[in-house]
Formats: sequence, C-alpha cells, structure tokens
Amino acid sequence: VILTQDDLKKIAAYKAVEFVESGMVVGLGTGSTAKHAVDRIADLLRQGKLKNIVGIPTSKKTHQQAVSLGIPLSDLNAHPTVDISIDGADEVDPGLNLVKGRGGSLLREKMIESASKKFIVIVDETKLVKHVGANGAMPVEVVPFCWKFTQERLQKLFEYAGCVAKLRTSGGENNEAFVTDNGNYIVDLFFERDIGDLKAAGDAILRLAGVVEHGMFIDMATTVIVAGELGVRLIP
Ligand code: A5P
Repeated sequence: VILTQDDLKKIAAYKAVEFVESGMVVGLGTGSTAKHAVDRIADLLRQGKLKNIVGIPTSKKTHQQAVSLGIPLSDLNAHPTVDISIDGADEVDPGLNLVKGRGGSLLREKMIESASKKFIVIVDETKLVKHVGANGAMPVEVVPFCWKFTQERLQKLFEYAGCVAKLRTSGGENNEAFVTDNGNYIVDLFFERDIGDLKAAGDAILRLAGVVEHGMFIDMATTVIVAGELGVRLIP
C-alpha cells in the first residue's frame, strides 16, 4: 500500500493519543494533523476507553470541531495546568525547535502548549528541517494598529539574514488582511540566510512594541512523533 501524506499525519496523531489517559486535561492542537488527534480522542471517549477528559482547544476552529464531537471543553483560566498537549508543526529541527503558525493559531497554541507538562508534536517527515526558519514563513502575530510600521521594524531587525516581511492576506478578492482568532494580523518573515541564535532572535522580536507573539517554539516540545514511509518514530 502507498500511504498518502494524510495517512502519515493520522498515524502520528493516533500514536500521540496513546499518551492520553483518563482524567487528563488535554491541549487540542490546530491544523490538518492535530485534527486527526481530536477525532481519535472523541472516538476513544465514545468507546468508553477514555473517561473524564477535559479538552483545551488552541483555536476557534478546533473548538468547533471538539464541540461537534462532544468533547468536554475548558480553558486556561479554569485549568492553568495542562497535562498533555498534542499539536502539529510546520517545521521541526534536530533540537526539536519548531516553527508554528502557518495556520494562524500560534498565540493560543503557545499559551496552552507552554502551560503543558507534556507537549507532543505530530508530523509527517516532510516537516523535518536542518534549521528552522530556512524553509518558508516564520509567522509573527502583530496588533493591527500601524501594522506596516511593525512590519518594517521586523524586516529591519533581520536585515542581516536577508529578511522579507509580508503581511498575510486572507486570499479574498479584496486581498484583505488575514485576521487571527484574537483579532490581530500576521506578518510572515522569509529569510534568505540563517538567523543565528533562535532564542536571541525570538527575544528581539518580542521586544518590539506591536508584536504579540512569534511562531518559533523553542525548548517546548517534549516528544516529536514522526510518521514516514518506513514507519513511525519518537524523538527522543
Ligand atoms: C497552526 O497555526 C499551526 O501552528 C499548525 O500547527 C501547523 O500549521 C501545522 O498544521 P498542519 O498539521 O496542517 O500541517
């Protein structure tokens, strides 16, 4: 059998759900991979194999999916400690640093996943990279107020890496800005060269007034589950 990329996403997602136990507070990720994990949790609840799960959704979209599947939900106010979060990623490097947010949900994801005792990342092997940030957009959530000013400051900050900063649009006919679940915009950073120390780069981004959060998830993942043609493996 030839496995599709979606089959691989499902394999990684199902493997991750094996770590979920009855009674846990579970961060529910966003995207085409995490969607399979949410489906699987709902299946196991229906079968009675999991009980008393409380889900904390990382986006409005996942909230809707979980509601439609009957998964009991809460939030970080009521459950400030999350037992386990399961989510996809756009890029994963050998040190398990991630780029997230190409789907636009980075802020809620980072809030929930950094409050999690375990954060399990699920990917197909196409997401593995040598250096995060070298293979596509690195999203930054910014407040809409004078977003152009913030975009220019972001581009300037990474001039040394040949950065191009672009406002994300929703693809509609008027090419209006993409709006996040939190009412903010996204500026996508594209680098021509290595940005160097990720922590320093992330801190510099966060120091700009007008920036809300960035999509580098550094030192956050506890385990990455990678599904490929040859099987599924856990790192570490
Ligand atoms: C959502 O904002 C992102 O962080 C997603 O987790 C990421 O885009 C992965 O999505 P896919 O599983 O659809 O690739």
